[in-house]
Parts: sequence; C-alpha cells; structure tokens
Amino acid sequence: MIPSVDQLEVADKRVFVRVDFNVPLDEAGRITDDSRICAALPTIQWLLDAGAVVILASHLGRPQGEVNPKYSLLPVAEALTEHLNCDVTFPENCVGAAVERLSRELRPGNVMLLENLRFHAGETDNDPEFAAQLARLADVYVNDAFGTCHRAHASTAGMVVHFQAKAAGLLVQKELQELARLAEDPGRPFWAIIGGAKVSDKIGLIEKLLDKVNGIVLGGGLAYTFLQAQGHEIGASRLDESKLRVAKRILEKANKKGVKVLLPIDHKVAPHVSMDATATAVDHINVPDGQMALDIGDKTAAVFAEALASAKTIFWNGPLGFFENPNFAEGTRAVAQAVANADAISVIGGGDSAAALKQLGLVDQVTHISTGGGASLAFLEGRELPGLKALEEQV
Ligand code: 3PG
Repeated sequence: MIPSVDQLEVADKRVFVRVDFNVPLDEAGRITDDSRICAALPTIQWLLDAGAVVILASHLGRPQGEVNPKYSLLPVAEALTEHLNCDVTFPENCVGAAVERLSRELRPGNVMLLENLRFHAGETDNDPEFAAQLARLADVYVNDAFGTCHRAHASTAGMVVHFQAKAAGLLVQKELQELARLAEDPGRPFWAIIGGAKVSDKIGLIEKLLDKVNGIVLGGGLAYTFLQAQGHEIGASRLDESKLRVAKRILEKANKKGVKVLLPIDHKVAPHVSMDATATAVDHINVPDGQMALDIGDKTAAVFAEALASAKTIFWNGPLGFFENPNFAEGTRAVAQAVANADAISVIGGGDSAAALKQLGLVDQVTHISTGGGASLAFLEGRELPGLKALEEQV
C-alpha cells in the first residue's frame, strides 16, 4: 500500500514535494497551459494548512544536465505566487549549501520552488550523491508528480530511500484511482483510441490493450504502419519498417480475440509535413505516391464516431493527425467530439488529446484528463512505475 500525504505528521517539518511542473511555454517563455500547476495545488495547500514548510521540485523540458535559462522554472514560480497568493522563494539552484540554508530558514507556511532539477545530470542519471544532496533539504518526502512516476530519476526514486516518512500526494492518488477504473472491471464495450506519430512509442501498449478492450481505434502517423501491414498503399506516409511484423501480429491477435481494430479508410494528405501545408482529401484507403497522410478523412471520422457512440469506457491517447496545423485538425476534433458525446467513463492521457478537448471547450464532458501522457501509458501497459515503487519500499 502506498501511504497518502494526509496520513503524515508534517507540522513544523520540511516537506520535499516532487511535482511535475513540466508545462508548455511559448517562445516568449509564457506558460500556455497551467493544468499541471493547478493539479498540484490541493497537495500544496493541504501541507501548508497542516503547518509544513513546502519545498517544491520539478524538471522542465530536457536541458541535458546543463543550466539553460530557456528551461528555468521562473515562470512557474511567478504563476505559483499568484495561485497560492503568497511569496514563493526561488533559489538559483536545487542543491548546495545556499539552498540547504534556505530550507532551514523557512518557516511553516512558507513555500520554496527549487530551480530545474535537470540542470544537473545527476537527476536523470539517478546519481546517489545528487539524490543525497536533495534529501538533505527535507525531513519528509511526498511524490505528487504523476507525470514523472515512470522515470527512475534521483528525485522520483534515488532520494526516496533517505526518508522514513514518505507518501503519495493527492494528485497521484486521484490519477491512480481514475486509471484503475480502466484496469479493473471497466464498463463494456471498452474502446481505446490510440493516435500520435510514432508507432514505436505505442506498439507495446496497443498489444497489451488487446487483453483489456473490445475495440481499438488507430489514427495519426502510427496507423500507417498497420495499413502497410495489411497490404495497403501508404504513399509517403510515416512508416516504421522495424515494426511491420509486430503490427501484423497484433492485427492477427486482435482478429482471433474478436477485438475490433479500426484504421483509417480515407485521408487528408499533403506532399510534406509543414505548418503551411494545405489538405487534399483522398476518398479511398490507398494513399497516392508522394503524398503523406496527415489526418483521417471524413468517412473515417464518421466510422470512428459511430463506434465510440456505444462505448461505456474510453481511453484516448494521441492526436489523429498533424493537428498543430488547423488544416489537419478536423479528425482529432471529430474524435474529441465523439468522446465527449459518448455516455461513457472517458479517460484522456496525453497533452495533445487534452489540448484538442480544451480548444473545443469539451473538457467538462470527459471523466478524467490525466496529467501524465507517458506515465498513464506505462500504467495501462502494466509496467512498474519507479516513482510509486520507491514509495512502497521499506527503508
Ligand atoms: C512528461 O511531460 O511526460 C513528463 O513531465 C516527463 O517528461 P520526460 O518525458 O522529459 O521525462
């Protein structure tokens, strides 16, 4: 059993909270979606009300172990000040003598946000010395970074061995509860919608899902390896030849198990992926030579929507096309609308699918939007999440 933050004694204690503030920023460094910050507020507020000193730590982007102002958590510190309506101490580093001193000077009810953990290679390397330095900053450890629980890093795994008092935050618990609804006795029919560009990222999940779902809708770039495996022409669309065999195996397995797999039957194409590409409709399953399929076509969208209309459980991860370019966003939008219309428990994993729902104002019409794309996939695949395992281990 993973202990919960509200079972901890935290009054007058320094509590290290690993959060996932890996938020999207625009070119001017402004936060374009603060969902991950908002999602961590209940845990932070609970700790403040309970009289703790709250020390928040996160990564932002992938700065490869080097200090890079582009990936500074400063915009997050500013946003937190507004959300919490209190000062947030923001040191220049996440470890070292100055930060340790600050951690001891702070009083109950104070908040400190450390600078980007990934400015040190020790974070992603799960270096024991770096982990020990982080552990020196606190008396109690809380993991509320659901989006990073699938990483075995110093702040999610390595440092945890230094704490007797440790727990999962309220967000991590909520995420696990919602995802468990999909894993344990889901309402049927259960449909998964898997999109996105890279088949290699999701093929393991697709195979595992065959044991859980009644049907799978496949769209986005990854669908074209499956269409090729079925012997269709895919033109210049995305193909991962190294996954053709496993795609074939999955289709055969699905057939044997009676799991429906729906693939695109028409497409929107362009010669190249680019933000100013315009869409040409291709009204049949074969993609012409030299053309890349960048969205599902209207017939496909209708077929997908019809299947989802009777679903009782839906899991959706990944866009159905190159939806950053509005000319190729229609398929993703149609699927978002179908998910919202369904009388089903609907769980969304992944920022792009969530962004599509937001754009359409449909966020309130789905059951749960996970803050962890990769983490929710790892959970559904049945993989062990190192961030959770570390909380279970006895010291
Ligand atoms: C995410 O955005 O999925 C998490 O913050 C993890 O980030 P990472 O893929 O760079 O480890």
